Amino acid sequence: MNILGIESSCDDTAAAVLSDGKILSNVIASQTVHEQFGGVVPELASRAHNKTIWATVDQALETSDLSMDQIDAIAVAKGPGLMGSLLVGLGFAKGLSLSWDKPLIGVNHIDAHMYANFIEHEEVFPFVALIVSGGHTRLVHVTKPFEHIVLGKTRDDAAGEAFDKIGKMLNLPYPGGPFVDKHAKSGNPEFVDFPRAMMNKGLDFSFSGLKTSVLYHLQKQDDGYIEKHLDDLCASVSAAITDVLTIKLRRAVRKTGVKHVMVAGGVSANSMLRAKVQAMEEKENVNLMIPAMEYCTDNAAMIAKAGEMKARLGQYDGMELKPFASLK
Ligand code: KG4
Ligand code: ZN
Repeated sequence: MNILGIESSCDDTAAAVLSDGKILSNVIASQTVHEQFGGVVPELASRAHNKTIWATVDQALETSDLSMDQIDAIAVAKGPGLMGSLLVGLGFAKGLSLSWDKPLIGVNHIDAHMYANFIEHEEVFPFVALIVSGGHTRLVHVTKPFEHIVLGKTRDDAAGEAFDKIGKMLNLPYPGGPFVDKHAKSGNPEFVDFPRAMMNKGLDFSFSGLKTSVLYHLQKQDDGYIEKHLDDLCASVSAAITDVLTIKLRRAVRKTGVKHVMVAGGVSANSMLRAKVQAMEEKENVNLMIPAMEYCTDNAAMIAKAGEMKARLGQYDGMELKPFASLK
């Protein structure tokens, strides 16, 4: 089965081709226009998607060496995301679907982050997933394909959002997450003991207190402090965020007794988080899945993979498919 995946939910225009479970192409056009604003500007994002979507899909097909008539179905991210951005991908996918007479499959972007793990791992159920991206942080118990129970979620900021907002305080470029990660590698994670919120309570998360704590800490320092201690500050912030994520994931594993565990979403690219969950895998004797780096942040390979799984279940959509902005 050959699936064309299209992703445009935030600020990455992406297209990929999956053939019999293998990724043949994975093209991402990342938008740079937002850097100067320190965050994604929705109107600019939709305009940039509109500009690049044709070339992105074209390149994905060309790289795959498949032509449109060899594609069996078109999978597209239907949400959650920015409404204008989603509309560009969805409109394009519907146009292709009509003109080439190919079935359409709407994919939930968050589901796709999880199922990105099944590009390289065997499809196994049930599993517990820690989903950590720029917009979402949640723990779910996935009982069977596309069915899950939410175990916990953030009460305020998402983990990626915390990385990005703190990155901004540390004068790092947007999005801060990858830069904080890079500097953390040569820093001391015990330099500042930033708070780990709700560590002893349930499976929900909270990251806004950490953000405030970093702000107060920086306000007390002399000029040049950030530059001098950037690596140590990044390591301390990363330690605080990843400690909470790992402890809660372990609690969810113990609570459910589920043996397959995964991490998904942009923050799963974080090196400290990857190291901590890998250590947990051995201690808890579970089967851990983390996506390869190219499938962590937004991409269309994950959309194609989730689309393939839905196609196998016969879950197709018609022209009435609508985008949705927020998660239910
Ligand atoms: O999944 P994603 O690409 O987009 C959303 O669906 O939100 O996640 C983007 C988030 C951003 O907040 C970004 O800073 C964060 O993932 N991120 C990282 C790393 N790479 C991406 N955070 C920490 N360490 C990283 N290496
Ligand atoms: Zn995402």
